Amino acid sequence: MTEIDLQQAAKDHLWLHFTRMSSYQSGDVPVIVRGEGAYVYDDKGKRYLDGLAGLFVSMAGHGRTKIAEAAARQASELAYFPLWSYAHPAAIKLASRIADLAPGDLNRVFFTTSGSEAVESAWKLAKAYFKQKGEPSRYKVISRDLAYHGTSMGALAVTGLADIKPDFEPLPPGGVRVPNTNFYRAPDFVSQDLEQFGIWAADEIERAILREGPQTVAAVFVEPVQNSGGCFPPPPGYFQRVREICDRYGVLMVSDEVICAFGRLGYYFGATRYGYLPDIITFAKGVTSGYSPLGGMVVRDEVMEPFLSGTSTFLHGITFAGHPVSAAVALANLDIFEEEDLLGNVRKNEAGFRATLEKLTDLPIVGEVRGAGYFYGIELVKDKATKETFDDDESERLLRGFLSHALFDAGLVCRADDRGDPVIQLAPPLICTQQHFDEIEQILRATLTEAWKRL
Ligand SMILES: Cc1ncc(COP(=O)(O)O)c(C=O)c1O
Repeated sequence: MTEIDLQQAAKDHLWLHFTRMSSYQSGDVPVIVRGEGAYVYDDKGKRYLDGLAGLFVSMAGHGRTKIAEAAARQASELAYFPLWSYAHPAAIKLASRIADLAPGDLNRVFFTTSGSEAVESAWKLAKAYFKQKGEPSRYKVISRDLAYHGTSMGALAVTGLADIKPDFEPLPPGGVRVPNTNFYRAPDFVSQDLEQFGIWAADEIERAILREGPQTVAAVFVEPVQNSGGCFPPPPGYFQRVREICDRYGVLMVSDEVICAFGRLGYYFGATRYGYLPDIITFAKGVTSGYSPLGGMVVRDEVMEPFLSGTSTFLHGITFAGHPVSAAVALANLDIFEEEDLLGNVRKNEAGFRATLEKLTDLPIVGEVRGAGYFYGIELVKDKATKETFDDDESERLLRGFLSHALFDAGLVCRADDRGDPVIQLAPPLICTQQHFDEIEQILRATLTEAWKRL
């Protein structure tokens, strides 16, 4: 197809996700045709720094022929066989490798094809586990305000973003919301002390469990660093307290690491970085660096135990889960993690990345830079002193009307998001170094300066 054909065919036939399709009636659909390292190129040959690793995915960066070759080898040898009653070597090797990397006795891996399916599977497992254990009334799931956990019906019920749900209601019952760990917007009575704020936020989970009735609550879902809302790291001690609360009421703790696992925070798992042991970890995205789709959950021995005897079966499965090509790709991806010490690169450079982004706090529009590892959110405000945010109209003009396009036009892929307060999010490939951080800072500085003038 020629360039013109691609553009017209995209407009006529392709349905973009979470996208106002009307916005492409006049403008062009951005068409990305290839990638190399930390950069991607569009159909006109223009280069962009991939500051979001696609969608928090491309950990090892683009253009890795070694991974592509592993995919080709696997497809030639065994392109497909299901994990329903059978196994294949790539899935077996990957499951044991992930179990080795996961903390504590998280030893059992159930594969899916995506993060939503991983979350959906974790909730289903929590319900089934309690049925097996003789506590059939436990089905509810507690999650945090604004947290994104996926789009399938169950995952959407776990999700804490009110605005993306009404079109699909009624959702499965049982989703319960508690506060997240956004210290920048902490309630006044805990706004002076991060640790106290963390205790309050964790205790809100306990209050929710008591309000709902502990005998009805199956699981608490938390991300190590919450993405949606703009990168909320945990206050010190927060996860330890959440763990204690879950133990006190016999509730499963699920660490949704669809973004945070596989190096985003400088560790294979976010739970390791923050020193807690969840009952289930969900993962996807970075496990393959996007060279093929894969997700899954890693489960502690105790949660697996009821399913290891008699006729007991987890009645759940997905045709393409643990696909041989995806599993082979994940193994090759993890080889690169080891050979190039990608985790070490993140740990070595994260302070530099943060410091570079923090230079932007001299701009009147930048309220806060927050995050960890290679995962940062920059909150935009109307008034730094009062932390006043933009109203809906301003937010619409600022983010959708200007920033999203302007940043892309300036050569940076990142995310300008207003699902909470307006934020710009960055999560570049783990191969990035200071030169990339400087490029990100320069593009953001110029574009945010222009945005402020237009307000
Ligand atoms: C924390 C978290 N959970 C689940 C999902 C859903 O993953 P997927 O888009 O692969 O279904 C996402 C996606 O961004 C996510 O960030």
